[in-house]
Parts: sequence; structure tokens; C-alpha cells
Amino acid sequence: MNNVSFREGNAVELPFADDTFDAVVTRLSVHHFDRPGRVMSEIFRVVRPGGSFVVADVISSEVAAESELQNAIEILRDPSHVRMLPGSDLTSLVKQAGFTIESETSWDKPREFGEWMGIVNDPSRVPPLRAVVRALAKAGASAGIGLSVHGEEIRFFHRWNLIAARKPGGQSG
Ligand SMILES: C[S@@+](CC[C@H](N)C(=O)[O-])C[C@H]1O[C@@H](n2cnc3c(N)ncnc32)[C@H](O)[C@@H]1O
Repeated sequence: MNNVSFREGNAVELPFADDTFDAVVTRLSVHHFDRPGRVMSEIFRVVRPGGSFVVADVISSEVAAESELQNAIEILRDPSHVRMLPGSDLTSLVKQAGFTIESETSWDKPREFGEWMGIVNDPSRVPPLRAVVRALAKAGASAGIGLSVHGEEIRFFHRWNLIAARKPGGQSG
């Protein structure tokens, strides 16, 4: 394969000139950024006028207390998690960067505590987190993600949002 190259860099300062790309795609990254607005501005800068931008990420509840609780649970599982944004905030960031939104699609992915904890490489962290999440679910705290107990299983969902957008000007396509 000789028509692909890889570059590593920080998303808040992309190592590319203005108007370089026909399209930029980013998936499951925004909830790891502590300056997501800055990253959106960088993406806008490197997409050419008329070029495309697609972002897909998991989003949180629009209810502030639910969003806060969901993000707290996620951070306990994965300390590199910063913040799942409510969908309206993700859309606003894309618009504020200068893009025109072309479509938005949302869906829910069912999750279960055991498989969700699969990325944790220190097994001693699983039982205490299970106890806390189970107690929250039993107390009726849905965290905006349908947190619920079914026998030994703790179920919830991740809500995804996929936004397709375009940088104004130039030739589209
Ligand atoms: C959950 S992984 C998603 C990986 C892949 N995009 C996917 O959809 O499977 C999050 C990725 O975001 C990257 N990331 C987080 N903060 C970043 C930053 N400031 N600059 C560049 N990449 C970053 C991490 O290195 C990691 O690869």
C-alpha cells in the first residue's frame, strides 16, 4: 500500500497546513479531549473549503445531574475519559467551529457491566466498581443510560451520535 501515510500528533495542534484534507473523520475521541472546542477549530482549519467532517462519539444525557453521574462512572472505569458531552453540546461545538451540519444520526448500543469492564487491566478494580454501579441502579439512579439490574447482570446503554458536516465554500464532493 503506497497511498496511505500515518502521522502522530496532538489533536489540539494538528501537524498539517490549512485546507489540506478533503475529509476528516474522528470516532470515539471527543470524550477524551479536555479542549474539544479547540480540537474542532483545528479540524476546521485543516479541512479544505467544501470538504467534509464526520464525528461519531458516545454522548450523555441532556440532564446535567445525569450527565455528571454517567461521566463519573466512566472515569472510574477509564481515567483517560474526560467528558461525554450531551448531544446538543457536541452539535454546538461542530457549528461553532464553522461547519454546516448536513445530517445527524443517533442510536443506542446496549451494554452490560462485565463486557464494559473488559478494558480494565487491574482486576481488583472490578468488584468495587460493580458494587457501586449496582447500588446506584438498585436505588433507581438511571444516570440517563437506563442503568438497571437483571439478576446478576447490570445493564445500560451508550447513546451514539454521528454528525456529518461540511466546511462552507469551495467545491463539495
Ligand atoms: C477510545 S480511542 C478511539 C480509537 C479509534 N478512533 C476508534 O474509533 O476505535 C480514543 C483515541 O483518542 C486518542 N486521543 C485522545 N486524546 C488525543 C489528543 N489530544 N490528540 C490526539 N489523539 C488523542 C487516543 O490516543 C485514542 O487513540
